[in-house]
Amino acid sequence: MKVNVESNENILGTLVLPLWQDSESISENASAGIHRDLRSQIDNVLSAGDFKAKSGSAMTLAGTQGGKAILIGLGKKDDADNQAMREAGAKVISSRTKMHGTILSVRLNDMEDSLMASFVEGMILRDYSYDHYKTKEEDEEEAELEVLVTCEESKTKVLSNATNIASAVAKGVFRARDLGNAPPNDLYPQAYARLAMEYAETHDNLEVTVISYEQAIDMGMGGLVGVGMGSSRKPCMVIFELNGDKKGPSPCIVGKGITFDTGGISIKPSPSMDEMKYDMHGSATTFGTIVALAESGWTERVVGVSCMAENMPSANAQRPGDVIKTYSGKTVEVLNTDAEGRLVLSDGLWYTGTHLNPSYIIDLATLTGACVVALGHEASGLWSNDDDLLKRIKEAGEHCGEIAWPMPLFKAFEKEMTDSKIADTRNLGAGRWGGSNTAAAFLKQFVPEKDGKQIPWAHLDIAGTAWGAKTNKLVKNGATGIHVRTLHHLITGQ
Ligand code: BES
Ligand code: ZN
Ligand code: ZN
Repeated sequence: MKVNVESNENILGTLVLPLWQDSESISENASAGIHRDLRSQIDNVLSAGDFKAKSGSAMTLAGTQGGKAILIGLGKKDDADNQAMREAGAKVISSRTKMHGTILSVRLNDMEDSLMASFVEGMILRDYSYDHYKTKEEDEEEAELEVLVTCEESKTKVLSNATNIASAVAKGVFRARDLGNAPPNDLYPQAYARLAMEYAETHDNLEVTVISYEQAIDMGMGGLVGVGMGSSRKPCMVIFELNGDKKGPSPCIVGKGITFDTGGISIKPSPSMDEMKYDMHGSATTFGTIVALAESGWTERVVGVSCMAENMPSANAQRPGDVIKTYSGKTVEVLNTDAEGRLVLSDGLWYTGTHLNPSYIIDLATLTGACVVALGHEASGLWSNDDDLLKRIKEAGEHCGEIAWPMPLFKAFEKEMTDSKIADTRNLGAGRWGGSNTAAAFLKQFVPEKDGKQIPWAHLDIAGTAWGAKTNKLVKNGATGIHVRTLHHLITGQ
């Protein structure tokens, strides 16, 4: 979507009119340039109470003398918040049909700056669909949407800046969605690494390094190797370093990147197994965050680490009962090969803490079904060894409408995970309960210390938020690109 911001004068294509609940006519500010016929039609509809502009509502009108309009309900002005505005913006795109064409003029008036910006952001984020694999006729290619946003003259500058940032960040969100939606026969660890290297070629301030399967073996990354060795598509670790010439310590983002999770020898049941192509969304968010930062012109150092592997059952796969030695030196008894995310992350976290000079580490992972049981699709689980970092992530999530909900790191969970008869740790809790907490407690053991204190670290379990939330109005279907915006906001404050 191309967006231009101007003051209220021109109207191009279809008029989009966001309205506060119970508006009885178009405001004077918003009516400049609207054809008389269309304007009186809109006023008639409003004064008759045929469109009440309740939150989530939309109505399409066509003037008899030409000119089309989409009315968008914003709900009560006093109840307005940023997320409601994003959703109202998204409604423009979901209610648009072919007849509205590819040029829209959105009139935003009588609204405070940040609400206007959120409306535009919602439009941008909802204008995404994944159709790379649909065969198209040549004349079927739909043109990019062109959106003219108009508002009061005094607000154009602020809105234009906010729109530019939202567009840049959306490139990162869309990259994460593209990666998440990609089919697992085409998106395997090496394919991800190739895409990362290709992206780095387009930005002088971005360096991508790949730790290959052979190197991972030599380095003793038994977690990554153990999970990935059963697949013909071998595992790797991909490291993004943005603005590496700046001195650290810097934020480091670590992602679980299981390009397909069959469960391995502890194989999963077949219903919905196809959804395990999304099991790399942690790494999709990592890549997407780097893209968002690069595209919005961030000049400080930020590091991303993606732990890529395909979890397959085969003659070469690891078994339940195996004991592996992770990069940290700690041994793990693998009691269930389907608890693989924590194994690849154990190496990613240790490598990040010991080699990449983090100010803090945040990992993201579609780690446990238990997290979906706990929080549904409404929030990611958030664990941290640092109260300040936890608070900042929670606030950044709230600011972006991507909720991250605090969960506990009780000592008992850690104890449960170190209670192996033959190794230092085990990858499975003792019972069924609290599975997302025991998983987090497992990860915590692989966060190194610096100056006698464990590095500030947070873990986001995105199993419920990476895809599948019917309530996420900013996504049509498939991968959500969750937390690219949260992390961009956390890191940049923008
Ligand atoms: N990728 C899954 C977690 C998952 C399941 C995410 C469903 C989203 C939806 C993970 O690797 C896994 O299989 N975890 C197991 C852990 C268990 C064996 C301790 C789980 O959640 O059942
Ligand atoms: Zn699994
Ligand atoms: Zn998994």
